[in-house]
Amino acid sequence: MFPAALTAVLWASSALAGAAPGVDWSQVEAKKIMLLYPAQTPWERLMTRERHSGQRRWPAKTCVACHGSVDEHALGDSLANAEKFKEPTPIMGKPGAVDTMVKMAHDAQNLYVQVAFNPGMQPDASMDKDFETKLTIMIDDGNVANANTAGCWVACHQDAESMNMGVVGKTKYLEESLTGPGGEKKSDADIKKMMEDGKYFEYWQARLNPGAKPVPVDGTILDKRADNKSPAVKVDATRDAAGMWTVTFTRKLTGLKGHKDFVPGKTYNLGFAIHAGRTAKRFHYVSFERTLVLDSGMADFVVVKK
Ligand code: HEC
Repeated sequence: MFPAALTAVLWASSALAGAAPGVDWSQVEAKKIMLLYPAQTPWERLMTRERHSGQRRWPAKTCVACHGSVDEHALGDSLANAEKFKEPTPIMGKPGAVDTMVKMAHDAQNLYVQVAFNPGMQPDASMDKDFETKLTIMIDDGNVANANTAGCWVACHQDAESMNMGVVGKTKYLEESLTGPGGEKKSDADIKKMMEDGKYFEYWQARLNPGAKPVPVDGTILDKRADNKSPAVKVDATRDAAGMWTVTFTRKLTGLKGHKDFVPGKTYNLGFAIHAGRTAKRFHYVSFERTLVLDSGMADFVVVKK
């Protein structure tokens, strides 16, 4: 296995005005994560050897170990204009990738995640009438099968709406919510038990329009994607004249119902996504999986307490 990069993230106590009180972001190291446009690349295709040679060596070799910070731009550029069976409805002029710079910090109460990105020249896809841009983070705490080697791609299936065998209304889901691959949904009692066991992704989303207050959303993905009634995550966002967004998520570390607890000693698997140019559903940019630990350990983000 490819050794995960070790990144020390510094925390400074000097308070700055703005996004996250108490975090001096100038003292926190940023990590670059590149997001690619995936077109229609469902889990089922990735797991088909004839379609994806990487399947042969996965999961001993993870997605990020082959692709991470390597070929996101090349893959994204080719997929934005791919053959019909991968991209039946291309968006003319869609860039193939978006780069982000990510910083994380925590204090006694909260985890802070700051993502800076410039979506660049984006054609208006007119799919989302309400928001120009959306930034999403998906989080697993080790309970979702294969999230540690494939991140959010495990939740992306061929029958989700807007995918190649799309069913209207079908969202992302985990295969373990079914009785077997391609099977029926498990009973409500089984799904409830999975939720209690933490077998779900949590996600945070910042819904953005230039010059407007950002709208926070959070929720879970298990048998379906479900937004929480009122989000526990807070969002601050600014956009500069050049189009660079700086978005900060703030969330309590522990004690929130229907949310993961962030505790030292556990490894969290993260996926990042950006909908740019008024897009929705699959028409987003996505990352390969990254890891987070609190305080100490081996991960892409070692988030140090003050
Ligand atoms: C052993 C290295 C390796 C691993 C591990 C691997 N891939 Fe790949 N991947 C490749 C290669 C090589 C290609 C291009 C040729 C091909 O499609 O077989 C590719 C192609 C792709 C494509 C473009 C698909 C297309 O049809 O053009 C995507 C998207 C992708 N991989 C995602 C993933 C994801 C997600 C994972 C983890 C589940 C993963 N890869 C694991 C090597 C790998």
